[in-house]
Parts: sequence; structure tokens; C-alpha cells
Amino acid sequence: MDKFVINGQKKLSGEVSISGAKNAAVAIIPAAILSDGICRIENIPNINDVTLISRILAKMGTDIKMIDKTTLQINAKGIKSPEASCDLVRQMRASSYLLGALLGRFHKAMVSFPGGCDFGVRPIDQHLKGFTALGASYKVESGIVDVEAKELIGNTIYMDIVSVGATINIMLAAVKAKGLTVIENAAKEPHIVDLANFLNSMGADITGAGTDCIKIRGVSSLQGTTYSIIPDQIEAGTYMVAAAATGGNVLIKNVIPKHLEAISAKLQEIGVVIEEFDESVRVSRPSKLNKCNVKTMPHPGFPTDMQPQIAVLLSMASGTSMINEGVWDNRFKYIEELNRMGTKISVDGKIAVIDGIEELIGAPVKAIDLRAGAAMIIAGLAAKGTTTIENVHYIERGYENIINKLKSLGADIKKVEIENQNFMPKAL
Ligand code: EPU
Repeated sequence: MDKFVINGQKKLSGEVSISGAKNAAVAIIPAAILSDGICRIENIPNINDVTLISRILAKMGTDIKMIDKTTLQINAKGIKSPEASCDLVRQMRASSYLLGALLGRFHKAMVSFPGGCDFGVRPIDQHLKGFTALGASYKVESGIVDVEAKELIGNTIYMDIVSVGATINIMLAAVKAKGLTVIENAAKEPHIVDLANFLNSMGADITGAGTDCIKIRGVSSLQGTTYSIIPDQIEAGTYMVAAAATGGNVLIKNVIPKHLEAISAKLQEIGVVIEEFDESVRVSRPSKLNKCNVKTMPHPGFPTDMQPQIAVLLSMASGTSMINEGVWDNRFKYIEELNRMGTKISVDGKIAVIDGIEELIGAPVKAIDLRAGAAMIIAGLAAKGTTTIENVHYIERGYENIINKLKSLGADIKKVEIENQNFMPKAL
């Protein structure tokens, strides 16, 4: 068990390079199950969620290995059974993509109900609605989702809510189905487009990804490919907020500025200065921060995965700001931890009211999930004194080498082992 220890109030400055996108990687890696050839996926982030999904595929019989620092090679020919039910599967939400990928390949999938960060109920009804429309039937028994289809046949599916996961899963199941599948009210996140581009590079016929109507014309087979994953929009946004919160000046490299527009626009409203270049953004904060209201929404709205980080910044602004969480039912559980650092934030359902304070004060806190953990780091970097963060395994699920990246920007942060709290001294 490790914790992060941060001595705050060091202005971040210098350059940081953003890694490949977690949420693209955890969709594209299982999508390789659909290929008859060898897939080489470049710009893979070195994070625990990638290790986890790779271990799951390896357990299922895939030949999967890193062939250099950032390239993962996958040959999934060795998978003989459509079953993925090991303990690892239950540890991550993205293992639900095994349902679509195995269904697409074997016309059958048996996958343990997916886990992931706890933001309230995380149903998969829209995923199952999509599979059913393609001709599959399903049952859920003893925590295993069992989906089967004699034949997968294209259909028009109108999603009741915008769901990233359901959109991805339906694309995976439909890519080798017979005929045309149309997903209406589809999610438009950059990683949806990345997955479509990856599948198309293997010979799929997908158009419209990035709009709310995706058309998938089924093909009989998919070949191998070499494909490079997009940079991580949320990792970039997290460093942008960290730079702003410490009053620093940081060049954030290897980004697609277009993917950051919603984040940049909000930061500018708060008083942060953003300069955009072709593949980088410079973030600085010359003056005080302004209050502002934020509503999280599916892309291209302000991303829910940046909600905890922006809450920290708004707690340092003068006046009262409000955040309306528009995606998840229960994504403010971390506020209790943040308030230990002196913030004045109250929560009523999906709304947080943030009264700006003069200064955050370092305190012992816990990361209660991945992005909440990122917010605790930002708070610690901005706070006076020392902050310790427990449960850092959540943070390491999605942020590559975060300690060294922050240290290279001048942060005083280190990872230390927590002493065994259950240690009982031997009786004398
Ligand atoms: N929903 C349903 N039914 C479904 C699916 C979703 O009601 O069948 C609801 C959810 O309960 C939620 C909303 O729809 O209220 C959106 O859920 P979505 O399916 O879009 O989320 P997801 O696919 O489970 C992905 C990311 C999350 C990110 C959300 C929203 C991955 C692996 N996870 O989750 O990322 O918050 O989209 O953008 O891509 C993170 O990276 O920290 C993270 C949690």
C-alpha cells in the first residue's frame, strides 16, 4: 500500500507530454479480438487499466505483449472460448467491451458483470438493448452476462441515453454483423472516433463516428493493423488545471487541442490563459480566478471526468460557483475528502455549491476513485503545507508516471509506502 505525499504551493512550470488515451486504449485492446491478424497498437499508456485488460486477454489465450515502450502487439487467434469470468474482469468497467467483441467474433459471450469506479448504479441496459436489436438474446445469472445470437443482423438502434460504453459495445458487435447497423443518439467522444478509425484500419466500414448517428456496414472479416491511439484528453485537462491551480506556466505537449475545447473554454472563463498550438497548449494563470458555473455533459460538453479537478480550481476562485453533474448520479462523494482541506463545498444531489476560499490547507485525504484522486493531487499541489493521499492505486489506473511528470514540472511530490497498520508488536 502506497500513499502520495505533497508539499504544496510550488508553481508548476516547464513541459509535460501527454500519454495515449486510457479510454481509447481499453476499448481498442479488446476490439483486437475481432481481428484475424496481428494488431500493433502504438501510443499505449503505461497505466494499470491497460495492464489489467491485457492480463484478461492473455488469460483468455491471446498472445499479447509490449514490443517496445509504447507499442502493444496482439494476436487473439488463440482465444477458443467466448468466456471471460476471472476475478480481473470484475475489477474494471471496460471489461464490458469483451461482451461486444466476443459476441462479434463467436456470436456468444459470457462475461462477469463489469466493475469500475463507483458513481452510483452503472447499468448496462443500453448495451443489452443494442445486442438484442442485432438478434441476440441474453440472461444474467450469478453475476455473469451471457449473450448469444444464431446470427447477428444489422438494425437501427435508438439509444435512450447517450452512453459511451453502449455505443462502443454495439459498434464491436455490429462490425461483422450482416447488413447495416445504425446507432442513433450515439456518443461522440474522441475515443469513439478513435475506435472507429482503428476498426476501419482493419477493414471495417464505419461512418459517422463523432456524430450522433453512426453507420456500420458489416464485413465478413477484419485483418491485422498498426494503429496509434489518440492522446488522453482527460490527462491533458488534469495537467491544465494543475498548472492553473498552482499559478504556474506549463506547455502541455502531444495533445489534440480540438479535443480540449470544452475544458479550455471553461478555464478561460475562470481567468486562466490558454495558448493553442498545433499539438500543444500553454496554460498560465496571471491573475485571480473568477467564479463560474459548470454543467458536465456528454461530448462535446464539459467532460464529467474533469468535474472533480475543476471543483478544486473553483474552490480557489472568488465568489460562489456551482457544478451540475449531468452524467453520473453520484459523483460528488469526494467532496467530503476535499472539504478536509478547508474547501467550502456543499452538495445537494447532482449539484455542488462551491464558496471560494483564500487558501487550501494540506491534510491527509483519500482518493476515492480515479478522477477524485487526480483532484486530491491538484488540491495538494495548490495547498499550504503537506497533503497525504491514500488509495493511490485508483490514480495509477489512469495516469501514466504521474509522480515523475509532476516532479519534472517542479512539484514536491513523492510516493511512500504506508506502514502496515495491522502490525502488532511481539509480546515481550
Ligand atoms: N447508462 C445507463 N445505461 C447503460 C449505460 C449507461 O443508464 O446501459 C448511464 C450511466 O449510468 C451514466 C450515463 O449513462 O449515468 C453515461 O454512462 P456511459 O455509458 O457513457 O459511461 P461508461 O461508458 O460506463 C465511460 C468512461 C467514464 C466516463 C463516462 C462518461 C470508459 C472506460 N469509461 O464510462 O470514464 O465517465 O464514459 O463520459 O470509457 C474515467 O475515465 O474516469 C471514467 C469513469
